[in-house]
Amino acid sequence: MARAIVRLPKLRQLENIKIRNESFSLTGEASSFVNDALRRRFCSDYDLAHTMSVPASVTITRRAGYSMQTKITTDPIEAAAHIMRGDIVAFPTETVYGLGANVFDAAAVAKIFKAKRRPADNPLIAHVASREQIDLLAAEITESAENFINAFFPGPLTVVVRKVEAVPLIATAGLDTIGIRMPAFKVASEFLSACGVPVVAPSANLSGRPSPTTWEAVLEDLNGRIDCILKGEPTEIGLESAVVDCSSEIPVLLRAGSVSLEQLREVVPGTRGISTGFGDVARSPGLLHKHYSPRAGVVLLGGDEISDQISEQTAFIGLSKVPDGFALVKQCDSVEQYAHSLFEFFRECDRAGIAVIYCEKVQETGLGAALMDRLRRAAE
Ligand code: TXA
Ligand code: MG
Repeated sequence: MARAIVRLPKLRQLENIKIRNESFSLTGEASSFVNDALRRRFCSDYDLAHTMSVPASVTITRRAGYSMQTKITTDPIEAAAHIMRGDIVAFPTETVYGLGANVFDAAAVAKIFKAKRRPADNPLIAHVASREQIDLLAAEITESAENFINAFFPGPLTVVVRKVEAVPLIATAGLDTIGIRMPAFKVASEFLSACGVPVVAPSANLSGRPSPTTWEAVLEDLNGRIDCILKGEPTEIGLESAVVDCSSEIPVLLRAGSVSLEQLREVVPGTRGISTGFGDVARSPGLLHKHYSPRAGVVLLGGDEISDQISEQTAFIGLSKVPDGFALVKQCDSVEQYAHSLFEFFRECDRAGIAVIYCEKVQETGLGAALMDRLRRAAE
């Protein structure tokens, strides 16, 4: 059969066809051809953006849908101008890259949920540049919230308090509380100061995928789906912020992060640890959703079980030195480096078509507790 070279759209857009039939229409053999290519992981996102040889009888026509040009800039002022226009913008923080919109602009906030394919019941964190901006969001700052803010802002901690009415319910997924965080990363503060309003931002990945720790990872998931990426350095910590609910008398840690439970208890001794009790799940609906998953399988194991798993289809990340034979290996010097590298390693494994990623367990103290939380969720 004669063959033609056809320029194919990006993988994410192709997934739209498969999942929702939204952005493109395929006729003839194209649909099965592309699905087959995807199933065999024949091409990465980038390969698919290039050209592929397909049977000439196939026609691929583009329909309206996600086709926006994603602007990439290193200028925080330019990125902030997009926010003021009602656009959505990815930006670096010390934890992971976020995908931001003006908190008071319900239409812009709705774009975040659409671009990420985020379930509407998962609330967003508002990012502020100053203490004054906290008062634009919070109806009440409880004593524990005040103490955590004084001790840990700016930094990788999100404090949940009751919200003012001006914050649209779409931002908080219908809750009467809002998570607030003041990033410490220099570019993030410059960007947020230039925005002049608090910016709600979930992690800048497609829902369920590993959070992005580089601007390239943002592009991989969201190219053509968002208006702008503020390109910065890779993030420092690599895991998302700790989330502590201070809306009632006793604070509760809802999500582990690099600010540990031990550190929170030094400031407010009664702080409760993470519980999977029904009440706490209701307090943080995001915990119910699948998170941080690479396409590869994830298996947790102890240092002494590693050598049994070596194969050309498998990868390893952890602290131990491992024998040769894995397709990909990331041996980290510390728990900090492990946390920093984890999500990018997951993505690297997916690009390489790895079947199973073996992740070494670590001790659950300090940052180790947050790392184990992410590993368990990825392995679910
Ligand atoms: O480090 C981070 O927190 C990053 C950067 C961009 O700041 N953001 C981030 O956002 O990880 P996201 O949307 O991926 O995770 C937000 C988490 C979810 O588990 C959500 O349920 C919880 O915070 N959360 C947000 N607002 C909440 C609220 N009002 N009450 C309870 N939980 C809330
Ligand atoms: Mg997230």
